[in-house]
Amino acid sequence: MATLLRIDASAQLDDRSLTRKLTGLFMDEFLKAAPGTETIVRDIGHSPVPPIDHRFIHAAFTPPEVREDWMHERLILSDQLVDEVETADILVLGVPMYNYGMPAALKGWVDHIARIGRTFSFDLSRGDFPIEPILSGKKLVVLSSRGEFGFQAGGVRSHMNALDPAIAACAHYFGVAASDIQTVTIEYQEFKDARHQESAAIAEIKTREIALQLASSQPEGVAFGSLPAVA
Ligand SMILES: Cc1cc2nc3c(=O)[nH]c(=O)nc-3n(C[C@H](O)[C@H](O)[C@H](O)COP(=O)(O)O)c2cc1C
Repeated sequence: MATLLRIDASAQLDDRSLTRKLTGLFMDEFLKAAPGTETIVRDIGHSPVPPIDHRFIHAAFTPPEVREDWMHERLILSDQLVDEVETADILVLGVPMYNYGMPAALKGWVDHIARIGRTFSFDLSRGDFPIEPILSGKKLVVLSSRGEFGFQAGGVRSHMNALDPAIAACAHYFGVAASDIQTVTIEYQEFKDARHQESAAIAEIKTREIALQLASSQPEGVAFGSLPAVA
C-alpha cells in the first residue's frame, strides 16, 4: 500500500489558498480510489521549518558516529522530515510562486531534506558530478498557482520562472527522477478574469486525473473509472 506525503507551502489560510484547494482535492480523489493509503501531512506554509544555520551545517557534515549531543539535537527535525520523504511513495506538493521562485518555507524544507549520508552522497572520485542521490523511485506531483501567466517553456515569462526549474533541480534529493514529476498550474490569479476561471477549472480536472492515475497504479488501488478529458 502506498504512502502519500502532502506538503503545503502556501502561507495563506486554507479557504484563501488555491494550491491548498488543489492538494486537498488530490488527497480526496486519491483516497477515494485507494482507501487504504497511508498519509503524512506536513504543513510548512503554516508551520515553517527554521532556516539552517552554521550549527546545522556543522552537525550535518559531521559523520554520525562522531556527532556530539548538540549535533544530534540540531538534526532532529531534519531527520524527521527526511524520514517522511523516505517513507513516502508519492509526494504531493502545493506550491505558490512567490517573487518568481519558491516560497522561503519550501526552500527551508529543501535545505533540511538535502542531507549528506541520508539523501545524497558526495564523492570527488566521480569527477565533475560528485553528488549522487540516495533515494529513488518516488513520484512528485506539483500543484502550483501563479498570479501572472506564461511561465511555461516558450511562454512570455518563461525566462522569469525560477520555481519549476528549482523544484526539478532538487527533486533527486526527494528520490524523484525528472520524468516522475507531474505539474499542474493555475495561472492569471491576479487578473481574476475568465482566463483565471478557465485555468483553475482545467487545473482541477488535471489534478483529479493525476490522482486517479497514480491511485490506480498502486498495488491495492481501485480505479473508479476515468474522468472527462480536458477540453
Ligand atoms: C508574497 C507573494 C508573492 C507573489 N509573487 C508572485 C510572482 O512572482 N509571480 C506571480 O505570477 N504571482 C505571484 N504571486 C501570486 C501567487 O502566486 C498567487 O496568488 C497564488 O495563487 C498563491 O498561491 P495560494 O493561492 O495557494 O496561496 C505572489 C503572491 C504572494 C502572496
